[in-house]
Amino acid sequence: MLVNDHFNPRPTDIIVATSPKCGTTWLRALVFSIYNRSSFDFSDHPLSKNNPQELVPFLDGCIQVDGSTSFIDGFPSPRLLSTHLPYSLFPQRMTDDASGCRFVYICRDPKDVLISKWHFANKLRPKDLPPITLDEAFDSFCEGVSHYGPYWDHVLVYWKASLESPKKVLFLKYEDVKKEPGDCVRKVAEFLGVPFSPEEQNDKIVEDIVKLCSFENMSEQDVNKNETRNSKRPISNADFFRKGEVGDWVNHLSPQMAETLDQITEQKLQGTGFSFR
Ligand code: A3P
Repeated sequence: MLVNDHFNPRPTDIIVATSPKCGTTWLRALVFSIYNRSSFDFSDHPLSKNNPQELVPFLDGCIQVDGSTSFIDGFPSPRLLSTHLPYSLFPQRMTDDASGCRFVYICRDPKDVLISKWHFANKLRPKDLPPITLDEAFDSFCEGVSHYGPYWDHVLVYWKASLESPKKVLFLKYEDVKKEPGDCVRKVAEFLGVPFSPEEQNDKIVEDIVKLCSFENMSEQDVNKNETRNSKRPISNADFFRKGEVGDWVNHLSPQMAETLDQITEQKLQGTGFSFR
């Protein structure tokens, strides 16, 4: 396994972890702007010139097939990295409490994840192939056929880790961040060891971060409107911004589909102490 064999973690590494379409782009922006808040002016912020993927690169994608990690090895500490890998695939030298690496995880209602994935998959689909139907996407999702493994398993492995090692894994829900973004920003800052001082609170910096990273602001940045695609880069920056809403599934799933998905979720989460509600 590439990460196990080749990645050299540093105790200061901060890893934004998600299953695809749960808010990776948003969380990257939040973590970047929270952690680096004293280094940049909000009126000329790196997030207005760079897609969050460039600022918080994929750890999984930075390891070359020959095992070379020179790109991330050259990053100054603390490194802000991102991953879709399940927690169980990280080596013990990263998941041990003593290792120092920290993970910030975000999950989302499976019904919204499915709809977001379905739209995204069709955006990336070669034009000469028929679009994936919602029925097809639904069946695959329910069967657990997802990149990086069945969605519920992905969530639960991070959930359990957050209970066992709350200083190592911070577990967030997309819906909570939408509802109370300021609380989430404060929670992340606290977790990362850079809590807001009373002076910062007075300066309304929390609100500035929330606004900077909001869907409304980010999706309006020229860099995030870029739709460039080619054989080397089939995914455009714009593909990561669609609606950014909670509950868009009602516009797509039949009541029967929603009920089936809710039942699967209830079954999978039974006895874990976790709920998407
Ligand atoms: P929708 O397809 O439901 O709109 P990821 O970044 O993990 O690929 O997730 C993409 C989802 O997050 C998309 O959801 C996208 O619109 C939403 N998103 C992107 N930026 C966001 C932001 N700043 N605030 C809230 N949601 C955001």
